[in-house]
Amino acid sequence: MNDAILVKKDLYYIGVSDSDIRVFDIIMKTANGTTYNSYLLKTSHGVVIFDTVKEEFSNSFFEKIESLCSYDEIKYIIMHHLEPDHSGALPELAKKAKNAKVIISPMAQPMLKSIAKTEDMEFETVWTNKKLSLGNKTITFLSTPNLHWPETMSSYLEEDKVLFSGDVFGSHYYDARVFDDLVGDFDYAFKYYYDHIMRPFKSDMIKALNLYKNYEIDTICNLHGPIIRNNPKKYIELYEKWSTKNEKLHGKKVVSIFYVTSYKNTKEMAYSIYDGVESDENLIANIYDLTALDEQNMLEILEESSGVMIGTPTINADAPKPVWELLSCMMLLEKKGKFGVSFGSYGWSGEAVDMISSRLKDLKFRVPMQPKKIKLIPTKEELFECYEFGVEFGEFINGKFTEITL
Ligand SMILES: Cc1cc2nc3c(=O)[nH]c(=O)nc-3n(C[C@H](O)[C@H](O)[C@H](O)COP(=O)(O)O)c2cc1C
Ligand SMILES: [Fe+2]
Ligand SMILES: [Fe+2]
Repeated sequence: MNDAILVKKDLYYIGVSDSDIRVFDIIMKTANGTTYNSYLLKTSHGVVIFDTVKEEFSNSFFEKIESLCSYDEIKYIIMHHLEPDHSGALPELAKKAKNAKVIISPMAQPMLKSIAKTEDMEFETVWTNKKLSLGNKTITFLSTPNLHWPETMSSYLEEDKVLFSGDVFGSHYYDARVFDDLVGDFDYAFKYYYDHIMRPFKSDMIKALNLYKNYEIDTICNLHGPIIRNNPKKYIELYEKWSTKNEKLHGKKVVSIFYVTSYKNTKEMAYSIYDGVESDENLIANIYDLTALDEQNMLEILEESSGVMIGTPTINADAPKPVWELLSCMMLLEKKGKFGVSFGSYGWSGEAVDMISSRLKDLKFRVPMQPKKIKLIPTKEELFECYEFGVEFGEFINGKFTEITL
């Protein structure tokens, strides 16, 4: 990929490949490497650059620009996203392209200085329906925040029906053939990218997809992986399917009870709680021993749960690792609106249950009740209290009580 590649008349791909990268942003495996996509548009009113590349790949990026135009011809640099994999070459480009104005979303303004490390970059902020008329070409801007940073936005090139989607519809998948209809099967990478980058922002994604619906989309120029020109509908529909939330099973709201146990004390509590939740015919309770669940299963279960109840004994003044694994995988989920609570048996100090309760609050779960703690082996009366604990939690999920912040 040493030369600029024509995408449409006057629109060029000037991205770079990072074929050897194997881990991206700490959390993602990249078996096929990745690309940092950037685009150059020639118009009757000058040249527009859409996003830049990671700094260490700047040389190849600048060579491509130089093969197409002189820096003085560049009038606008549109930055859909300021993460360093796309803004790394921005300071250098802005220095070279003296006539260029940087276009960003309002949310990007407070970030620009800290990312570009310069005060003197000329910029303009844009939002949905703001247009940039460039003689024979028109660009409409679309606000698509939180996909996956607060400042992300998209834009649409009207005459060519091209959507510039930022990281949305991206995949970490390098293939020198560049276009979706020419590269190998990248479906796994497309799904993996969604799961790790976009999945925590499903509500914002639905808003963005609704905005995109107002435009006829012929080609999607994204920021990573294959450019989508053959079947954009397929990829848009996949995002719609993955972003649509379903927290119901058999028409009932789902409450998932997770526990670990060494002497079955916390397990007994979990089963009494289960009976309490199940006593409500509008709810369906499921119960899981965390030691036998892998992360993918945890995520799928959590995703469909309106309520999450976590049971843990206290072991050496802490909760055991499987409990923390459950909590740490939640960074890949949208927690908005979900209820959470903790419970467990303990011997003398019992801090694990409180730690999990605070962690649930930190993760922005709605935690409407104090955790339920029982000393060592639960008595019959205490198990009945657990039953009632389950009933009460269910009532919060059904909206019977108004929560107070604990
Ligand atoms: C290795 C070990 C360490 C423990 N450390 C603590 C502790 O720090 N604080 C506490 O309150 N209980 C502690 N306990 C007691 C357990 O929390 C208690 O036995 C509890 O009832 C176990 O519940 P379970 O049967 O659900 O595992 C410890 C137990 C074990 C086996
Ligand atoms: Fe990003
Ligand atoms: Fe990115």
